[in-house]
Amino acid sequence: NPEEGKAEFDLKVQNGRTEFFEDQKTDTLGYNGNYLGPIIKVNKGDEVKINVNNTLDESTTMHWHGLEVPGEMDGGPHQGIEPQSTWSPSFTINQPAATLWYHPHLLDKTGEQVYKGLAGLFYIEDENSTKLDIPKNHGINDIPLVVQDKRFTEDGDIPYELDMRDTMDGFMGDTILINGAISPELDVKNELVRLRILNGSNARAYDFNFSDNATFYQIASDGGFLEKSVEMTNVTLAPAERAEILVDFSKYKSGDKVTFRDTENNIMTINIIEESTEKTEVPKELVEIPKYDKGKIVRSREFIMSGSGPMVTINGKQMDMNRIDEELKLNELEEWVVSNESSGGMGMMSSSPHPFHVHGTQFQIIERNGGKPPLNEQGWKDTVMVKSNEEVKLLVNFKEKGLFMYHCHILEHEDSGMMGQFIVK
Ligand code: C2O
Ligand code: CU
Ligand code: CU
Repeated sequence: NPEEGKAEFDLKVQNGRTEFFEDQKTDTLGYNGNYLGPIIKVNKGDEVKINVNNTLDESTTMHWHGLEVPGEMDGGPHQGIEPQSTWSPSFTINQPAATLWYHPHLLDKTGEQVYKGLAGLFYIEDENSTKLDIPKNHGINDIPLVVQDKRFTEDGDIPYELDMRDTMDGFMGDTILINGAISPELDVKNELVRLRILNGSNARAYDFNFSDNATFYQIASDGGFLEKSVEMTNVTLAPAERAEILVDFSKYKSGDKVTFRDTENNIMTINIIEESTEKTEVPKELVEIPKYDKGKIVRSREFIMSGSGPMVTINGKQMDMNRIDEELKLNELEEWVVSNESSGGMGMMSSSPHPFHVHGTQFQIIERNGGKPPLNEQGWKDTVMVKSNEEVKLLVNFKEKGLFMYHCHILEHEDSGMMGQFIVK
């Protein structure tokens, strides 16, 4: 970039043909390509302008998931981008280093457009992320992993057709992809490697782990670094959640293989290909997070998620573009009590977990089911898993004005109307 502190990007929303299987092309959607989009990299403090050019013959929108920007730049259902037109939001990056993402948010159509391939990562870097002694070599030891699931027909197509079960629990595929690839292989040196994992699936939650039950360290949650790295052997991510983890491959030899998997699927083979001379150390202290002060809570609100399938609601209501559900004030600390009273989906088949997401802010979780949240939920978050009969308490404080959404990030639930609007004044 010629001008320090300024960044401009062009994103073209386009039809694509993707070769998921050899010699077979699938109709997909992508940004500047056939499937998914480029990683947008910005620095804290940057003035950013993004030109989103819609070349499709249907409308779309572009939402910056996790970004703290004014409502009119947020790209929710009100900022439609008509076919053959361009939307150019601009904003200043005013939040810490994080792995965020972007995706469309058209009313009732988010599930389909994301499923077809519209999503991309959005990295923010800052002084701290630059200074920290962690892997930063993109594609070498700092690896983006966008995890999604698909259901292919025999011809390799991915029609977005919902059956009864999809409508109830959300669309789940039987094939897991990483960055658009089926059963990918990743070559690494036997050194410390950073994986930036996004659950970009419509509805599936994963419990990621490694075939040898190796321990790893989570260093960041949705909205940035955790205060301290958290040692773990598995990390659960609901749709839209992110985790950055450090995996120490120094105990392996060249030629070894490890599988990255979840409880049901082997997802990616990691080949250790080279002996590294780099010394490997996981930093313990990562960042200081200014913790909200409970004593400063101005107001408390309840968000009760209930119903099932097409009848899913928040506070008994379904999304209405012409109704504003909540009114907030800028810079006032609020406590949001989010609970899930949904009983099973189809009869006893499912328990209807709902990942609750709030636009325009990163929040702090102070309570999960009456106790402290786990360590890896004690950093900045924008999406939180709330299972049946669970209750979480969040502290939120808006730095930007405008109209925003909150919703379940199971995209079929969102599209069924499990979403509400709030205005920050
Ligand atoms: Cu990831 Cu309302 O969105
Ligand atoms: Cu969002
Ligand atoms: Cu839901």
